[in-house]
Amino acid sequence: MISPKLPQIWYGADYNPDQWPEEVWAEDMRLMRLAHVNVATLPVFSWTLLQPAEDRYEFGWLDRILGQMADNGIYACLATSTAAQPAWMSQRYPDVLHTGRDGLKRRHGGRVNFCPSSPNYRRFSAALAQQLAFRYKEHPTLGAWHIANEYGNHCYCDLCGEAFRQWLIERYGSLEAVNQAWNTNFWSHRFTAWREIEPPSMIGERSNMPMLLDYDRFQNQAILECYLGEYRAIKAITPHVAVTTNFMSQFKPLNYAAWAPYLDVVSFDSYPRAWLPMSDVAFNHEQMRGLKDGQPFMLMEQTPSQTNWMPRNPLKRPGVMRLWSYQAVAHGADTVMFFQWRRARGGPEKMHGAIVDHVGHEHTRVFHEVQALGAELERLGDTLVDSRQQARVALLFDWENWWAIDYSSGPSVDLDYIGLCKRYYHALWEANIAVDVVRPEAELGRYDLVLAPMLYMLRPGVADHLSAYVRQGGSLLVSFFSGLVDENDMATLDGYPGELRELLGIWVEEFDSLLEGETRGVAMSAPWGRLQGDYSAGVLCDLLHLEGAEALAVFDEDFYAGRPALTAHAYGQGQAFYLAADVEEAMLHGLLLTLCDERDIAPALDAPAGVEVTQRVKDGRAYTFVLNHNAEEQSLTLPPGCRDLLSGRALEGDVAIAPHDVWILEGLPG
Ligand code: GLA
Ligand code: ZN
Repeated sequence: MISPKLPQIWYGADYNPDQWPEEVWAEDMRLMRLAHVNVATLPVFSWTLLQPAEDRYEFGWLDRILGQMADNGIYACLATSTAAQPAWMSQRYPDVLHTGRDGLKRRHGGRVNFCPSSPNYRRFSAALAQQLAFRYKEHPTLGAWHIANEYGNHCYCDLCGEAFRQWLIERYGSLEAVNQAWNTNFWSHRFTAWREIEPPSMIGERSNMPMLLDYDRFQNQAILECYLGEYRAIKAITPHVAVTTNFMSQFKPLNYAAWAPYLDVVSFDSYPRAWLPMSDVAFNHEQMRGLKDGQPFMLMEQTPSQTNWMPRNPLKRPGVMRLWSYQAVAHGADTVMFFQWRRARGGPEKMHGAIVDHVGHEHTRVFHEVQALGAELERLGDTLVDSRQQARVALLFDWENWWAIDYSSGPSVDLDYIGLCKRYYHALWEANIAVDVVRPEAELGRYDLVLAPMLYMLRPGVADHLSAYVRQGGSLLVSFFSGLVDENDMATLDGYPGELRELLGIWVEEFDSLLEGETRGVAMSAPWGRLQGDYSAGVLCDLLHLEGAEALAVFDEDFYAGRPALTAHAYGQGQAFYLAADVEEAMLHGLLLTLCDERDIAPALDAPAGVEVTQRVKDGRAYTFVLNHNAEEQSLTLPPGCRDLLSGRALEGDVAIAPHDVWILEGLPG
């Protein structure tokens, strides 16, 4: 659990008492208790107040509010406040300022506005974290640490240039090795001295893909070092208090998989677009859970009502905040936390939803909903805390692969890695089949089926890892646009899909990139499971040869009519499948569900469309979440002996779930 001090679902919000007169704080405490809030995240953006001058810290105001929280039984997710440095620092030490990809050095302003290589930023941020840890190490409110906020600022300044060259020296040893790795004879990009390597800003080198990848790796590492500076300072003083920083799910600039080992608990901010499929939101949760091998994560932020930064910011309809909160818990969150507690009076977030609105009292729809959910979560006590999912299907997701696919020029602008991962996931989500989203190097032995959409880049060891998994009896589905390059984006010379060729029993000779809206027919060679007859495919169609695999489907038009579109290959004790095109939903769903059927992978409960079912298991007991995403009532048939933890009602036989309602059922097998 996150902290033995608070063995229940954490419930609370980002709290900015420093934006309000102290008279308001007592009212905040009353309202927090009323809302069953047990944790507040603070102070997230208060560096200038905490350190008004280089040689002066001021913690008095923080002492006072933490004292009030202690008196009211509210724990602190104690933030280090280092996501926006004070203006005095930017002016006195201009190295802390950030240079954008446009190559322009920023003046002071905004937030997450620092250069990750800046020695002064690193020095001052670690020092503040140390001061806070020292001061509050014994504080009764201290529940967890929250370092900075939503890291993500890639920088292209000269300091980063120098640090990049050092990083390259450590990685490659010699300039010649860099030239080799980056294939720099292409367009005469050979470097003859280290100083010629500059950050690839928009006014610089953007045509050397291996360099772009290495720059992203370097920036990821540099930003992680900023985090680690604070992490180490804190851990030296409070080794047993959990430390986190808030992620943003699929945030491209940072390879969160590389960060996860240094977080005691993963936390993330969830702001779903109301118009996107709920499976996309579920995918985010799976991905955050997968970062630490299934360990429960923190939902650090969500809005209780609306955001302010989308072009249009619809309100969450009545019941939806509760539903989406439970959706996070259903997928492994042990906290339900919001941004923000009290709606900011001024600044860009004064239009952002909050638990306490500008009107300042509790007699609002949003407050009532938050209060009701708080009471409900409080009644659950520690029942769900630390419970786990038990997925039998894994979907591989890899940040560096994402970067590489997006940098690849050709064969098609329609290649959308995240989009494809989400479509694969969606098929199983609709069927309520549990999926873990994990990195390619993850331990796979516990899964009966592994999905690898567009595994374009194969880092060293990945192909062997996947081959071993299949040899030992696993089933693997690989899609088109896989196995093409190594970690430096250098194409395989062993025939596509390179190191996966033997495992998949195929050789991909060419790939046809279809024009916008174009499709090609795909026909099943014979009915198989849920698949039969004709389908269509778009985006990319591989022209492949069988080398031991059999064709389960073929293209049925164009000059490659008759060539395999879906193959199966028996390999060791397992099977390796290859899907050679971006097929329509009907075929994708049919394929994935057939693969599940054949392995007896089934949902915990049959449910109508839009009713999501997941399970968390603890001490041998299964908790089955039933979430009705529909605005209409839905009917389910439950086996005897089910009880809804939330309402306390026994539920069995034919029962209806109200619009947007949630059950947590006991009594179903795990
Ligand atoms: C992010 C930040 C918060 C706040 C919210 C608004 O998640 O972490 O500080 O700006 O967005 O949605
Ligand atoms: Zn920089």
